[in-house]
Amino acid sequence: MSGPSTLTLVDPEATHAFGVRLGRAAAAGDLLVLTGGLGAGKTTLTRGIGEGLGVRGAVTSPTFVIARVHPSLTGGPALVHVDAYRLGGAAELDDLDLDADVADSVTVVEWGAGLAEGLSPDRLEIRIDVDPASEVRTVTLHPRGTRWDAATLAALTRTSHPEADR
Ligand SMILES: Nc1ncnc2c1ncn2[C@@H]1O[C@H](COP(=O)(O)OP(=O)(O)O)[C@@H](O)[C@H]1O
Ligand SMILES: [Mg+2]
Repeated sequence: MSGPSTLTLVDPEATHAFGVRLGRAAAAGDLLVLTGGLGAGKTTLTRGIGEGLGVRGAVTSPTFVIARVHPSLTGGPALVHVDAYRLGGAAELDDLDLDADVADSVTVVEWGAGLAEGLSPDRLEIRIDVDPASEVRTVTLHPRGTRWDAATLAALTRTSHPEADR
C-alpha cells in the first residue's frame, strides 16, 4: 500500500505525455478512475494512454457513446474508454457489462468516482485539479489495492522523462 503521488502538468502536452507513460505502464486488468471537472484534462490524458498502449481509433469526448473499445494494434490489451458523465448511477454502469472486459483490457473511466469502484479492488484513482489563475493541472494518484506499488508510481511521476515527454 502506498500513499498518493502528485505531478504538475503545465500544459496539454504534459498531460498527454503523462498519459503515454501511463499507457506504457498499464497491463490487462488495469482500471484507471479519472476525476476532475469539465475541461480538467481527463480526455486529453486518456488520449495519451491510448497512444502509450498503441490502440486503434481516436480517443474523443463522446457526445452519446458512453463506452468505446479501442483494440490494440500490437497484440496488447484494448483500451475501454468510459465516460460516465451521463450515467445515472452504478446500476447503469453495471448495465454496460464492463466486468466482462475489465480482466482483458485497460479500462479508463472518466467521471468514475463513486461509480466504477465495484469494477476492481485494484485500481488507480487519478484526480486532476486545475489552478484557475495559471491553468496548471496537478494530478494526484491514489493507488487502491496491491497493483500499483510505490516504485511504479514513483517512476510514473518522476519529472524528467526526456525521451517520452518531448
Ligand atoms: N495541463 C493541461 N492538461 C490538460 N488540458 C489542458 C491543460 N492546459 C490546458 N488544457 C486544455 O483543457 C482542455 C481539457 O479538455 P479535456 O481533456 O476534454 O477535459 P475533460 O475530459 O476533463 O473534460 C483542453 O482544451 C486542453 O487543451
Ligand atoms: Mg472528457
